[in-house]
This record gives sequence, structure tokens and C-alpha cells, in this order.
Amino acid sequence: MPKPFYITTPIYYVNDRPHIGHAYCTIVADAIARAHRLMGEEVFFLTGLDEHGQKVQQAAQAKGVTPQQFCDEMAPHWQELWPKLQISNTDLIRTTQPRHKRVVQTILQKLYDAGEIYTAEYEGWYSTRAEQFLTEKEMGPDGKFPAEYGEVTRLKEKNYFFKMSKYQNWLIDYIRNNPGFVYPDYRRNEILGFLQKPLGDLCISRPASRLAWGIPLPFDAGYVTYVWFDALTNYVTAAGYGTPEFERNWPADIHLIGKEILLFHAGYWPIMLKAAGIPLPKQIVAHGWWTRDGQKMSKSVGNVVDPVAIVEAWGADALRYYLLRELPIGSDGDWADTNFERRYNGELANDLGNLVNRSLSMIKRYCKGVLPEPTASDPLDDELRALAAATAKRFPDRIAKLELNPLLGDIWDFIRRCNQYVDQCAPWALAKDPSKAPRLGTVLYNLAESCRVISILLTPFLPTTAEKIRHQLGLGETPAVLDEAQMWGKLVSSRPLGEVAPLFPKKQ
Ligand code: MSP
Repeated sequence: MPKPFYITTPIYYVNDRPHIGHAYCTIVADAIARAHRLMGEEVFFLTGLDEHGQKVQQAAQAKGVTPQQFCDEMAPHWQELWPKLQISNTDLIRTTQPRHKRVVQTILQKLYDAGEIYTAEYEGWYSTRAEQFLTEKEMGPDGKFPAEYGEVTRLKEKNYFFKMSKYQNWLIDYIRNNPGFVYPDYRRNEILGFLQKPLGDLCISRPASRLAWGIPLPFDAGYVTYVWFDALTNYVTAAGYGTPEFERNWPADIHLIGKEILLFHAGYWPIMLKAAGIPLPKQIVAHGWWTRDGQKMSKSVGNVVDPVAIVEAWGADALRYYLLRELPIGSDGDWADTNFERRYNGELANDLGNLVNRSLSMIKRYCKGVLPEPTASDPLDDELRALAAATAKRFPDRIAKLELNPLLGDIWDFIRRCNQYVDQCAPWALAKDPSKAPRLGTVLYNLAESCRVISILLTPFLPTTAEKIRHQLGLGETPAVLDEAQMWGKLVSSRPLGEVAPLFPKKQ
């Protein structure tokens, strides 16, 4: 059996409420996953929840519940969001699952046995209130730590360290020799720049006495695993590490992440894998951050965009379209309601919605809802057909290069060309002259074919809309297949259309 295309999102902190930034990351991953399915590949699409650590422990304490109860209460906020956004993940990992604990402990033990982990005393400034060591970064210009840290004391603590630094040069060479490993290019340069400074060894333990909510080290029950070591390992847990499935699923093709967690994914993670003798993922893809009206989104400012509210008001496809269309993967984006509405009314309701609605309504009106036969062609038709084929042909390359937003641009160029074709051919005028019936039938057939091609190409991005178009065309449950976007003439004449209804009702 061939290896599935394996794509992941970061695992989200379970204690956060999902917002548009999280939705963005998962929607981009979903569009890529669906595009690969459309091309006939099997896809393994993983998302999940990061459930250990200080914040969860504290939040649970404040609520008077156990950390596990707290996670179980929070997890549904995430699990229920994804279907609302039409996310087609095939697995959702929670780091508190036994399958994950087992893998983290197996890998730690392996590294420990291989001499990759050692103990050392760490001495530093410790804030009991924040329950963490502070560094000079937190120190004010007066040499004191800000009051929010409460009492800060000098503390000496034994911990376990992973010998990360000895792999630093190997990693630099690897990234240099594999230019596609980090995407986009400017993020590769950023990580290479970062690796100019010594990485140091990674402290992978926390004494259970001050942080109990974690995975115990297999070789010392007095400690739990550092959350990032635990979290990164999720990608191999879900792939079935330690089972025969793993050989088939791993390596991941794409780890999609936000730009701020690049060092963890393109620095720590490859080194952890290398040391454990596990092949590296093929690509780390870092996307940008969304602001709102130019400002960072935050609960305290109260400007967080809630994806559920958008879906309820506008539909999941409208949200997906805006997020995917607005920017290329890598760039930062800014959410502005007016911009969202402009794209909805202009590109979804006018360009796409109108094309499908007027094309199919005319077939209903002039041909009794039965697909006519194309018998009287014109050079204009050839041009339309050629553009459809060229757009479909470019699809796999665009996906391979992660050019989702240019690909949507290609599709919209075709949609606009189709609308122009309607205006040029003026079916309503042809309908007035019975001698033009063959030409009318041909024009309407070509428009239906164009809608069919569009429905295929839109499947990864606007899955609900794509399906609606196929139903309206009378294609019922037949799945969209990319190859069929290049086969002009697949629609069978004399077949009835489905029910025709507007795709994107206009909103004022
Ligand atoms: N739990 C870690 C990831 C561990 S992966 C082994 C984490 N979680 S997070 O919930 O804080 O963030 C998850 C993802 O959401 C990150 O990739 C981050 O970039 C993304 N976003 C959070 N806010 C965002 C925006 N405002 N805009 C775009 N994405 C942002 O980090």
C-alpha cells in the first residue's frame, strides 16, 4: 500500500478558546489535505490538543477540578469546532491519551539508554508565583524582577538535559542541503540565522514537586517531561510509532505551524528525531499571523474574531474563502469586517454565485431543466474550454508549491471568463429566435460544463459549495475527481438538473 500524504497542524493548547488564528491554521491544512484527496491520494490529516503543563494545572486548581477533568471539559470546544469549519481531519490526538504517554516514554528511554540525556544542577532565579525560572529577559532595567512574579529566590535544582547542542552543526548542514525543508524561504533564513548562536542543551524535565501535570520520566518518577518535548512527539504517536503502521505513515509530508513556533519545529524537533533514529519530516511550513483592524487580537482588548460567529452568520465556506484567498501562506493577514464583506458580496455572491445561478436557471427556463446538447460550436467555446483545461492542469503544481491563494486566483479568472462568456453569447437573446436553438443549447451546455469544472476545482477550498453545485448539476453523490476537470464533455445531455438555488445569498 502506498504511503498516505501526512499533514499535521500544531496541537492547540486545550485551555485556550479557539479563535480565528487557530481556525486559519487548520483550514489551510484542510485545504491541502482535500487537494491531495482530490488528486487521488490517501491522506492522513492530524490535528490535536496540547493538554499538559503549568497553565492547565493552575486553571484546574482555580476551578477546583483535577487537570484531567479540566481538559475533558475544554476539549469539546475544539472537537466541536472542526466539523463546523468542514475540517476533514482523520485523527485528533490529545496528549493525555495513553497511546501518547507510551510513545513519549519509549522515546525518552531510548535517548536515555543511548546516552543522549544527562543530569545537571541548574541554578537560577525562581518565581514561586509564576512557578518558573526567570532569566535576564524578565529582569527590569533596575536589576529587579517585576512585581507580578512575587517573591523571587535563588534556587538550585537537578534536572535532565537532552544533548541537543552536539547536533547543531548537523542541523545547519541539513537545512542548507535541503532547501525545501523550511517554507517559505525567508523562514529558512530566519532559522539559519537563529542557529548562528549556540543552541545549548535542552532541559527536558520538571520536578514533579512543582509541576505534577505531565508525563513522568520513565527513568525517574520524580520528574515529568517538559511540555514541548511531550507536544512535539504527538506527530509520531499519531502515526503509530512502535507499530507496523508507523513505517507506512511516517515521515510527515507537512507540519503546518505558525511562525512563532518555528524554532521548536525546525530546530528542536529534527534534532530529537535524529537522536532517536527516526527520519525527519519532509517539510515545515510556517504561516503568518492574523491581526484585527491592524491590532493584535487579545481577550483583554476584546477584538478576537470568533470563527463560530462568522460561520453562523456567513457559512463555513465564506470564512474558508476569505482566509485562504486573502494572503499567501507565510504572510501576515489583517481581518477587517468590511474587507470580508466585500469579498463575500463581490467574489462569492457576484462572481461565483451569479455564474452558477444564472447558467442553471437558464437551462431550467429555456430547456425545461434538461441539459441540452452541444451541436453548434464557435471559437469562443474553444477558448473557454482551453482556459478550463489550463486551469485544471496547473492545479497539482500549484498545490505542490503551496500556492493556494494564486490557485484561487486562477479559478476566479476562469469564473470571470465564464461570466464574460455569458454576456458575449447573450443566451436570453438567442432564446428569442427559434433558429438559434442549437447555439443556445451549446452555450448553455458549455456553461454547465464550466460549472462542473469549477465544482471540482473548488472542492478543497469550499467543500460545501462544491457539493451544492454538483447537486444542482444533477451529479448527485458522485465524488469530485481532479482528472475529470480536464475531461470536457463529461456531463450527459438530456439528463435533468437538480434543484437550483442561490449559493451565496447577498447581504447588505
Ligand atoms: N501547543 C503549542 C503547539 C505545539 S505543536 C507541537 C501552541 N499552541 S497554540 O494554541 O498557542 O497555537 C497553535 C497555533 O495557532 C500556532 O501555530 C499559532 O501560530 C496559531 N495562532 C495563534 N494565534 C494566531 C493568530 N492570531 N494568527 C494566526 N495563527 C495564530 O503553540
